Amino acid sequence: MYHNINAMLLLGRCRYLTRFGLLAPQRPQASAAAAWCAVRLVGSSSNSEDQRWERTGHGPNLRQALAGLLAGTGAALAYGLHHHKAEQTEVVSVQVQAQTSQLPVFSQEEVTKHRTLKDGVWVTYKGGVYDITDFISMHPGGDKILLAAGGALEPFWALYAVHNQEHVLDILSEYKVGELRAEDQKKQQSAPSSDPYSSDPKRHPVLRVNSLKPFNAEPPPELLSDSYVTPSAIFFKRNHLPVPQVDPASYELQVDGLPGGGLKLSLEELKNRFPKYTVTATLQCAGNRRSEMNTVKQVKGLNWGISAISNATWAGARLRDVLLAAGYGPDAARWARHVQFEGLDKDVTGTMYGASIPVNKATSEEGDVLLAYEMNGEPLPADHGFPVRVVVPGTVGARNVKWLSKITVSAEESGSHWQQNDYKGFSPTTDWDTVDFKSAPAIQELPVQSAITVPADGAVVSRGGEEVTVKGYAWSGGGREVVRVDVSLDGGKTWQVAQLRNGDKGQTPEPSPPPGRAWAWKLWEITAPLPPEARQLEIVCKAVDNSYNMQPDTAAPIWNLRGVLSNAWHRVKVTISDDEE
Ligand code: MTE
Repeated sequence: MYHNINAMLLLGRCRYLTRFGLLAPQRPQASAAAAWCAVRLVGSSSNSEDQRWERTGHGPNLRQALAGLLAGTGAALAYGLHHHKAEQTEVVSVQVQAQTSQLPVFSQEEVTKHRTLKDGVWVTYKGGVYDITDFISMHPGGDKILLAAGGALEPFWALYAVHNQEHVLDILSEYKVGELRAEDQKKQQSAPSSDPYSSDPKRHPVLRVNSLKPFNAEPPPELLSDSYVTPSAIFFKRNHLPVPQVDPASYELQVDGLPGGGLKLSLEELKNRFPKYTVTATLQCAGNRRSEMNTVKQVKGLNWGISAISNATWAGARLRDVLLAAGYGPDAARWARHVQFEGLDKDVTGTMYGASIPVNKATSEEGDVLLAYEMNGEPLPADHGFPVRVVVPGTVGARNVKWLSKITVSAEESGSHWQQNDYKGFSPTTDWDTVDFKSAPAIQELPVQSAITVPADGAVVSRGGEEVTVKGYAWSGGGREVVRVDVSLDGGKTWQVAQLRNGDKGQTPEPSPPPGRAWAWKLWEITAPLPPEARQLEIVCKAVDNSYNMQPDTAAPIWNLRGVLSNAWHRVKVTISDDEE
C-alpha cells in the first residue's frame, strides 16, 4: 500500500515535469529526466520516503522555502529553514546517495539551455545539476530566481551566506537531476570568485557580530549606557545586503509620484537648498531582544541580544521640506497615503531594499523625519547609509532606509519584501504553516522598551559595598516619552524607581521634548542596598511611557514566529559574593 501511494506521488511529479515539457520526447534531456523519475520510482519503497512525499508534497511550504533559499528573502528563508528539517534530512540523504551513482552527466552547455519555464530552469551547485522548474512555475516570486537560470548558484549564495547550511542544501537536493561534467566543474572552480562583501567597511572589533555577510552586529550592553549619544563606531549595524559604495559627487536623490515631473537633488543641493535640522533619535531594530523569545520557543531571525538599539544625533534636510519643494500640497494630500523609500543596496535581482511610512508622518512638521547626511556631527558612515539616509524618529529601524536613492509619494505602501512579508507581528499561535503576512500591518511605531545593561546576566556582585548599581536604557516609539522606570531586585515582587537622564552624566539635563516628540531614549540608573542574606538576585526593569503603556511581564504571551517586538520586563540574575571588590 505504501509502495503504491509512493509510486503514484512520484508519477504525479513526473507528470508535472511532462506538463512543463521536460519529458517531451523531442528534447535531448527528456530521457535523462525520465530516467531520473524511473530511478526515484525504483528506489522509493521505504516508508519514510512515502511519508516525505505525503508531508511535503511540493506544497506551498516547500515552494516558499526554496524561494527564500534562492532569492534570499528573509521570511521565505526563515520558512525554508524551519520547514521539514527533520523529515528532510533523514530521507534526503538516502535519496542523494541513490542519485549520485545513477544520475546523468550534463555539460555546462546543456545546462545553459535551460533558462526558461518552456525549456526548463536548471541551475548548478557544487558539481550537481538541479531542475527547479516546477518550483518556479508555482511560486509568485519565481521570476527572480530565473536570474540564476542556466548558471551556477554559488554567486547568488555568496550574497546570502546564510544559505550555506546543511539543511538548506538538503532542500535543494530534492531537485537534483544530474551531475555537471568534470571539465565544466573545473572551469567553474577556476573562475574568479567575486565576493559582494569585499568592499564592506572595516568595523570596530568590540562589536558582537550576529552575521558577517551581510554585516549585523551590536555593541556590548555595558557600553551602550556609558554614553547618551552612542558613538557611530559602536552604534548597532543592521544590513540586509552588501554596503553599496556611493560616489558623493554623482549621487542623486530622486523624488517621484507628484505631479510636475518630480525632483532630482544632488548631495550639494540637498545640503544647500534646504535648512539643516538636527534631531537626536534612537533607532531600534524590530528584532532587538529576539534571543529572549528564543528561550520561549525557537523563532527565525538574527539572535539579537539587548543592544540592537542605539541613540545618535542626526542632521540633514527635513523630508517635509523636500516633499513640499517637489510639489506636495493639498491636492496630493487628497490621494497620497504613504511615502516610499528605496536604498541603493541591491539583491541578486537588482531589487533595492525598500520600505514606506505613512504620509502624515512624512509631511508633518512635528514628525521630524530627516533626510540625514550627518550622524553625530560627521558625514554618515558607510554602514549607516552614506551619503543620505532617512531617519524616521519613533519608528522601527527597518523604515529608516539607508543609502537612499528614491522617494515616492504614493497611495500604496512600499511593495518591498521588507514592508510586505517581514517586520510584522503575529499571535503566539501563528506558525509558519498558517502565517498570512497580508493579514497583519507593517510595524511602524514601536512599543515601550527598557533593558538592564549593568550588571550583566550571570555577573557576580560583591557584598563589600552593600549596594548594587543597576543601569539601563528606556525608550518608547511614536514620540512617547518614558516617564518612569521601575527596578526590582527580587524578581518583580517589590519595586524602586530609577533615576532617568536625557544627557550625559554631569551635563545640564535637556528640557523635556515637546509632547509627542520624545525621539531619544533615556538612560537610567539606581543604586540600591543589597537585601541582607540574599545570595542571588533577580534584577528586573520595566518602563512606563507618557501614555501609561507598560511592558508585558513575560515574553511567552507576545512570542511571535519572527521574534519581533520583544519588550517583556528585562531580567538578569546575579550572584552575591562575600569577597571584597
Ligand atoms: N536600509 C537599507 N537600504 N538596507 C538595509 O538593509 N536595514 C534596515 C534599516 N535601513 C536596511 C536599511 C534595518 S532592518 C534597520 S534596523 C536599520 O536600517 C538599521 O540601521 P543601522 O544599521 O544604521 O543601525
